[in-house]
Amino acid sequence: MSTYQVGYFVGSLSSTSINRTLSTALIAVSPPDLEFTEIPIGNLPLYSPDFDADYPAGPRALKEAIAASSAVLFVTPEYNRSIPGALKNAIDWASRPWGQNSFNHLPAAVIGASPGQIGTALAQQSLRAVLSFCNARQMTSPEAYVRLAPGAITDDGDVTDESMKQFLTDFMQEFRDHVERVLTVLPRD
Ligand SMILES: Cc1cc2nc3c(=O)[nH]c(=O)nc-3n(C[C@H](O)[C@H](O)[C@H](O)COP(=O)(O)O)c2cc1C
Repeated sequence: MSTYQVGYFVGSLSSTSINRTLSTALIAVSPPDLEFTEIPIGNLPLYSPDFDADYPAGPRALKEAIAASSAVLFVTPEYNRSIPGALKNAIDWASRPWGQNSFNHLPAAVIGASPGQIGTALAQQSLRAVLSFCNARQMTSPEAYVRLAPGAITDDGDVTDESMKQFLTDFMQEFRDHVERVLTVLPRD
C-alpha cells in the first residue's frame, strides 16, 4: 500500500492547545495510508523580504518539510476572527521567495476548534483566502467547524463523543480521497 505524507500545522502555540488535541484525534481516526508529521511554526523569526536572498535555517527547514509532504493539513484556532499571527507568519515564509511558493498545487485541508459557537469559521475563511492566493488545492467540502465542549476529546486525543468521532473520521477519509484525486490527476515532482 502506498502512503501519503501529510505535513500538519497546529496554529496555536499554547501548551494546552485544544487544536493540538484535535490534531491528535484526527490522526487517530485517519485512514491507514496517511502518515503525519507536524511542521512546527513556533520558533520562526518574523518574515521580512530582507531574508529572501538567504533564508535562515528555521524557515529553510519549514520549506523542506512542506516539500517532503504530499499534502498539508491546517488545524487552527481563531484569533480575533482571523488567522493566528504565528500561522500567518509561517505561511508567509513558505510562500516566498517569489517564484518558490511551497504551496503551489499542494493538496490542503483546513479544520479548527474553539470553545465558542462558530468553531473557527471566520479564521478558516481567512485562511482559505490566503491558501487560495498561494494556489494550494484545497478541499472545499466537507467544512469542519468544531465546537469543543469540555471532555469531548481527551488530552490523549480520544474522541468520547460518538457523533463527533464519526464526523472527524469522515472528514479525514474525504481528505485522503481529495489528496488522491489531486495527485492522481497530476502528481507533484
Ligand atoms: C488572542 C486570542 C483571540 C481569540 N479570538 C477568538 C475568536 O475570534 N473566536 C473564537 O471563537 N475564539 C477566540 N479566542 C478563544 C480561543 O478559541 C480559545 O482560546 C481556544 O482555546 C484557542 O485554541 P487553542 O486552545 O488551540 O490555543 C481567542 C483567544 C485568544 C488568545
